[in-house]
Amino acid sequence: MSEQISSSEPSPVAVLKDALHNFEKVALSFSGAEDVVLIDMASHLVEKLSVFSLDTGRLHPETLRFIDRVRQHYATSLELTLDLLVPEPVALEKLVREKGLFSFYEDGHEECCHIRKVAPLRRHLTGFDAWITGQRRDQSPSRTQVPQRQIDAGFSTARRQLVKFNPLAAWKSADVWDYIRDNDVPYNELHDRGFISIGCEPCTRAVRPNEHERAGRWWWEESTHLECGIHLMNLDQEPDQTNDSGG
Ligand code: ADX
Ligand code: SF4
Repeated sequence: MSEQISSSEPSPVAVLKDALHNFEKVALSFSGAEDVVLIDMASHLVEKLSVFSLDTGRLHPETLRFIDRVRQHYATSLELTLDLLVPEPVALEKLVREKGLFSFYEDGHEECCHIRKVAPLRRHLTGFDAWITGQRRDQSPSRTQVPQRQIDAGFSTARRQLVKFNPLAAWKSADVWDYIRDNDVPYNELHDRGFISIGCEPCTRAVRPNEHERAGRWWWEESTHLECGIHLMNLDQEPDQTNDSGG
């Protein structure tokens, strides 16, 4: 595994090690995009890995195929559990019955993202003490303060504190792509078609040269509010870093 470091902060592998070695109940979230590098790094650190993807029902077919390709690719080197989390059917049916399949273009993405992403994530995270994401500071104006490790104020409860690790926080997009190339990591074929940031199909578009990657997400909405709820704490971030280990 070759890994480039672009700042004086701990490397992504060091942050990942902190998460995987100090927390027994830790899950890695995988969006089916370039965050695949985290699975590759983890495959060199642990024998067992719990990964989940939020299968919103609106992902590109290419992304679903890629998620499965990743499952097969790493199954030889790792005991990989890859859970696909689906939305609660009653809430989803009610939304679609009342507002149809594209209400987010009319009244914003929050309601749909809440049902298809946030609620399944909240349910899943109750089984964990820590989770790992592929967030980076260069991804969005709302992510410039993202720490490598933080208390997840959005998903902690009165009875359980949830720690959120963002091992790639200090990396730039170029660092991620250098890692993918140097380590022969499989990647989503949509990246070869102008997609940089990849989310749900109706809410993601390819970007033009020199356009910021976030311009391809929820492009009809105000650019400073482009978070879907799973990282909503970024919008009023008090970087709440912790250094205490344990899980
Ligand atoms: S989003 O909130 O705007 O959709 P983004 O696509 O930038 O997030 O991805 C940032 C990180 O959030 C990913 O690396 C991953 O950790 C998590 N994430 C986003 N979408 C998903 C998904 N569908 N399933 C699992 N994790 C996801
Ligand atoms: Fe719905 Fe779009 Fe959010 Fe996906 S990204 S959950 S389709 S609003």
